[in-house]
Amino acid sequence: MMRTQFSPLWRRVVPTAVVGAVVAAALTGASGAAQAGVPVYHRAAAAIPDRVSDLLARMSLDDKLGQMTQVDRSVLTPADLTTYRIGSVLSGGGSAPTSNTAQAWADMYDGYQRAALATPLGIPMIYGVDAVHGHNNVRGATIFPHNIGLGATRDPALVQRIGRAVAEEVSGTGIDWNFAPCLCVARNDRWGRTYESFGEVPELASAMASYIPGLQGGSLADSGSVLATAKHYLGDGGTTNGTDQGDTQLSEQELRAIHLPPFQEAVRRGVGSVMVSFSSWNGAKVHGSQYLITTLLKGELGFGGIVVSDWAGIDQLDGQTGASGSDVRTAINAGIDVVMVPYEYKAFLATLRAEVLANRISMARIDDANRRILTKKFELGLFERPYTDRSYTATVGSAAHRELARQAVRESQVLLKNDNGVLPLDKGARKLFVAGKSANDIGNQSGGWTISWQGSSGAITPGTTILQGIQQSVSTSTAVTYNRTGTGIDASYDAAIAVVGETPYAEGQGDRPGGLGLDQEDIATLNRLQASGVPLVVVLVSGRPLDIAAQLSNWDALVAAWLPGTEGGGVADVLFGAYRPTGKLPSTWMRQASQQPINSGDGKASLFPYGYGLSY
Ligand code: GLC
Repeated sequence: MMRTQFSPLWRRVVPTAVVGAVVAAALTGASGAAQAGVPVYHRAAAAIPDRVSDLLARMSLDDKLGQMTQVDRSVLTPADLTTYRIGSVLSGGGSAPTSNTAQAWADMYDGYQRAALATPLGIPMIYGVDAVHGHNNVRGATIFPHNIGLGATRDPALVQRIGRAVAEEVSGTGIDWNFAPCLCVARNDRWGRTYESFGEVPELASAMASYIPGLQGGSLADSGSVLATAKHYLGDGGTTNGTDQGDTQLSEQELRAIHLPPFQEAVRRGVGSVMVSFSSWNGAKVHGSQYLITTLLKGELGFGGIVVSDWAGIDQLDGQTGASGSDVRTAINAGIDVVMVPYEYKAFLATLRAEVLANRISMARIDDANRRILTKKFELGLFERPYTDRSYTATVGSAAHRELARQAVRESQVLLKNDNGVLPLDKGARKLFVAGKSANDIGNQSGGWTISWQGSSGAITPGTTILQGIQQSVSTSTAVTYNRTGTGIDASYDAAIAVVGETPYAEGQGDRPGGLGLDQEDIATLNRLQASGVPLVVVLVSGRPLDIAAQLSNWDALVAAWLPGTEGGGVADVLFGAYRPTGKLPSTWMRQASQQPINSGDGKASLFPYGYGLSY
């Protein structure tokens, strides 16, 4: 992360001549009196472990506890950041500055950073955000396909390029920590976070861990790099019935075989942080599991970065609301280094301090957490370049990033049916009819985690809808009619395109313990189109496979578009053959919802198997 130069506190009190000597000494490697006035932790040329040790030795208990505390911007003033020495700020889903522009985000970030540098030791803060398919909280940012679509591309190099593009847009707003990629292995499509998974097998998530070097670059100190987060550790996609934050009832052997490999790959690729899962393993909350967090992740896997809790995740440990002393000591002693509080930070700090003073949390554990945190802050270059590098701000929503996103949309489309070669459609067709609630809706095609936490239907951010993509693809002589419900269709049309599926949701609000079929509006629209006898192409905009076997025989063609994001032109590119479909299913497609969970190799008769995909 390249940042603008700033003058740290000591430079304002150390005469320029000394600074010059120090710089000369640093450059020549000379030691001695010239550097005497500069603390080791402020010497950029010093080895990071030495800088960490020097700083740790200077820190008070309050300094150390503050570094372990992460607070949402919506409740934290810069003044309180200074007073309580808060080490990390975050934006939960949709938590944006009033003027939701890249510039306003950068100004907000710099304001918090100035407050952090005003603490006694001037330790910069680190700011986290869920840029899970682009910098999706920011209006105008490029929104890429959600992970399930990226899994369908089977293109790790593309995913790495996406990671880089997202890192640049995130950097342009100052932010230095991305709570992504989700490396969950979604085993039951009822789960509301299925679309955050690259697919149902660990190999796919492991391959797409290429997102991590995309975000972190060759080095965290590199220009535009941000800290990546492998999440949610461990087994979030394996809960019984796909219940979000539920219980993953597996033997240790099964847990290791299905859910651990992507995290092993993430550690191998140098991921800087890991976020703990809300879920439980055989009835025990992962947030309290010293075995999974310390023995397995930090010990056996050798993870040396930051372990961060999920949103108020420690509060759930004792089954009561709020973060009790028991919650705090259980979570910290389990190995959590940063607690995403995210609101009651004063109470959290008081409880944490009490647990340490009562020797129920050791100073060794506190110092281990601080070493991990400070190491990443030094690696990011925050002490030398703490403020936003505004040279990246213009990359937010840039044409180059949108073109990359359009390529990802093209590669993510999975052609599941194409009777009589109805696809690709003729760009010179006389009359085309477009229908469906998601044909002209950026919000629906982007899904959850877009502008707001849950996402929403409508024109929520600039982009190209699938309808606009179709209109831009056809010849000037082609008449494209759009009607959301299909009203007006008749036999005079060359083809009908129905863009249907799911409206946005996130996390548990997307859990579907009952049916997984289309909603009544979509069914009515499709029936209206089918009645005309016109060749029918269905484009399914959804975060998961849906139960459509009963309707499939009435459709001439079916394309799984997943949640493509702002660049709907990529869907049209496939429909008209500008790009031949290459996508492959990242998840087995059920014949009926009652088959869930249904996964590759389980012997169940699917409608379409994992890896299926047609082409032209
Ligand atoms: C949410 C999600 C997690 C996200 C965090 C911060 O509840 O579980 O994926 O990173 O809170 O928004």
